[in-house]
Formats: sequence, structure tokens, C-alpha cells
Amino acid sequence: MSLNIELLESSFAPIKTQETEFTTHFYQILFADSPTVKPLFANTHMEKQARQLFKSLVLVVDNLRCPDILSRTLKRLGTRHIQYGVLPEHYPMVGSALLKALSICLEHSWTPTTEQAWSEAYAAVSQLMLSSADYPTEILTLYVQRD
Ligand code: HEM
Repeated sequence: MSLNIELLESSFAPIKTQETEFTTHFYQILFADSPTVKPLFANTHMEKQARQLFKSLVLVVDNLRCPDILSRTLKRLGTRHIQYGVLPEHYPMVGSALLKALSICLEHSWTPTTEQAWSEAYAAVSQLMLSSADYPTEILTLYVQRD
């Protein structure tokens, strides 16, 4: 899948100046829409977590033209997520909250094309994160298309 890099970069530029607003919306939406993930964050320092999540999104957008860096970093991130108790089925929940938070922050700049670009980018990111995660094959094949 080839990502719409220009649109991802240009639409993320205004988000970079709205870190707190974006992450506040993101976690509010995630916990409201998907309360089942809340226990995973039971012992989490949420302000620190929000900063780390935001930093990882910046890293993704900054490295859209560097697939090797993206692949290496996201595979490691995916492996760490197993230790956090994250399952493949949680990824679409986070993806949905991410898109909704982006749409709120981008207001009128959020168009069907922007939505498609981010939806494809999130699919690629979650595939990379899940591709290194050592889940039982029968679970993983439901979510990841392997070569
Ligand atoms: C695009 C996908 C995702 C990104 C970029 C992302 C990013 C991050 C980052 C940067 C951290 C900080 C710790 C570290 O670097 O290892 C983290 C921790 C965490 N993430 Fe994610 N994440 C993603 C998907 C998910 C999903 C699907 C869930 C499930 C609800 C999840 C739940 C958690 C939890 C529970 C922690 C640990 C919090 C703690 O330290 O207590 N993440 N994530």
C-alpha cells in the first residue's frame, strides 16, 4: 500500500501545535468508546503516557519517507505492547479514537481524503506493530496479512 505522505505530513502540521488538546480528546474518546481497554492503563501515569504517544506519532510522520526506521521502531513498539497486555483486537479501537481525535482537531480540514490517508497509515502502523508480536498464529492471521 502506498501512503499519501504529502497529505499525512500537511494534515499533521497543525496537530503538532495542539498536543494537549489532541491527546486529551484521544484518551477521552478511547475510554468512552472502548471501556474494555481501560484496565490496561490502570497503573499508567496518563500525562506521561500522552506525551509518549504523541512523540511516537511525531516519529511516524517524520519518518514516512524512511521505511526502514519506521519498520524497526514500530516492530519494537509492537513487541513492548504485548507486555502491556494489548491484544490485536484492541488496535482497531485505538485507530478509531485516533481518527476521531484528528477529525476534531482538524475541524474543516478533515475531509474524506484526509480520513482515508490516516486510515491507511494506521493500518500500516498496526500491521508493523503486530507483525513482530508473538501472538498465537490463529489470532494473528485474523488481523495481519503476512507475506
Ligand atoms: C498506533 C498504535 C500505537 C502507538 C503508536 C502506541 C504508542 C505507545 C507508546 C509510545 C507507549 C509508551 C511506552 C513504549 O514506548 O513502549 C505506549 C504504551 C502503551 N500503550 Fe500504546 N500505542 C499504540 C497502540 C496501542 C493499543 C492498540 C493499545 C491498547 C489499548 C495500547 C495501549 C498501551 C498501554 C497499555 C501502554 C502502557 C502504558 C504504561 O506504561 O502503563 N497502545 N503506546
